[in-house]
Amino acid sequence: MNTKAEKDGATQDDEAKIIFVTNQKGGSGKTVTAMNLAAGLHKFGARVIAVDIDPQNMIVSWFNNGQDIPFPYSNLAAAVDNAPREIEKLMSSYDFIIIDGRPQIDKKVTQMLMISDLVVIPLRPNTMDFNATKVLVDQIRAVQEEDNPDLKFAYLLNQVADERRMLYTLCRDEIQEKGYPLFKTNIRMRECYPQAYAIGATAYASHRAFRPAATEVSELTEEVVNLLGVGDRYRLSKKPKA
Ligand SMILES: Nc1ncnc2c1ncn2[C@@H]1O[C@H](COP(=O)(O)OP(=O)(O)OP(=O)(O)O)[C@@H](O)[C@H]1O
Ligand SMILES: [Mg+2]
Repeated sequence: MNTKAEKDGATQDDEAKIIFVTNQKGGSGKTVTAMNLAAGLHKFGARVIAVDIDPQNMIVSWFNNGQDIPFPYSNLAAAVDNAPREIEKLMSSYDFIIIDGRPQIDKKVTQMLMISDLVVIPLRPNTMDFNATKVLVDQIRAVQEEDNPDLKFAYLLNQVADERRMLYTLCRDEIQEKGYPLFKTNIRMRECYPQAYAIGATAYASHRAFRPAATEVSELTEEVVNLLGVGDRYRLSKKPKA
C-alpha cells in the first residue's frame, strides 16, 4: 500500500486532498461533520466525494433520505484491505475525498491515516471526551513518524451548547495547553443537523432555520482549505466544477 508520502510528487497538485473525520468515541459528530464539510467544499467550488467506511453506513442512509445532496458518495464499509486502493482510484476525479470514520481505532483507521492529508477530530466539548482521544493522537503521531509526515490534524468542537459553560472553557483550554490544533469555528448544537439527515440534505438546505448552520459550516470550510494550503483555489459561491 502506498502511503501519502510515497504518492506525493509530480502530480501532487492534481490529486485530491483526503480528509479523514475520525474519533473512536461514538456519537462525537463524525458523520454530521463529514457530510457538512463535504457540502461546504462543494459550495466552495470543489469536486467532492464522501466515503463511508463505517459498517453503520450512515452516509449511505443520509443520501437515501432525499435527493438534495449535490455530490456523490462511495460505500467502502465492506472493503477489507482494499479501501486505500479504492480511494486512490478516486484521486484524479475529485478535489477532496471526505472519509467518515468509525467509532473505533483499528487497522482500517490506521490505513486511512496513512493516506490522508488532514484528520478532523470532532469532539463534544468536555474533558472526558477529550482525554479519550489521547489514544487517537498517539496513533496519528505514530503514523506521522513512520509513514505520513505531512499528515495534519485538528480538533473541531461540535455540539457546542454554550461557550460560557465551564466544561467548554476547560476543554478548549486543555486542547490549547497541549498545543493541539483546534479550529476557531465551533459547530453548535442545532436541531437542523439531525433534521438535515432526516430530509437527506445538508446545512445548506434552503430553509431559513438552517442559515446559521450554513454560516458556521462555511467558516469551518474556509479554515480547512486554508489549513491545507489551497485557500486561494476554493471560495464560497464558486460554481462547482462539472
Ligand atoms: N452539532 C450538532 N447539533 C445537534 N445534533 C448533532 C450535532 N452533531 C451531531 N449531532 C447528533 O448527534 C448524534 C451523533 O452524531 P453523528 O452520528 O454525526 O456522530 P458519529 O461520531 O458519526 O457517531 P458514530 O460514532 O456512531 O459514527 C446524531 O444523532 C447527530 O444527529
Ligand atoms: Mg458516524
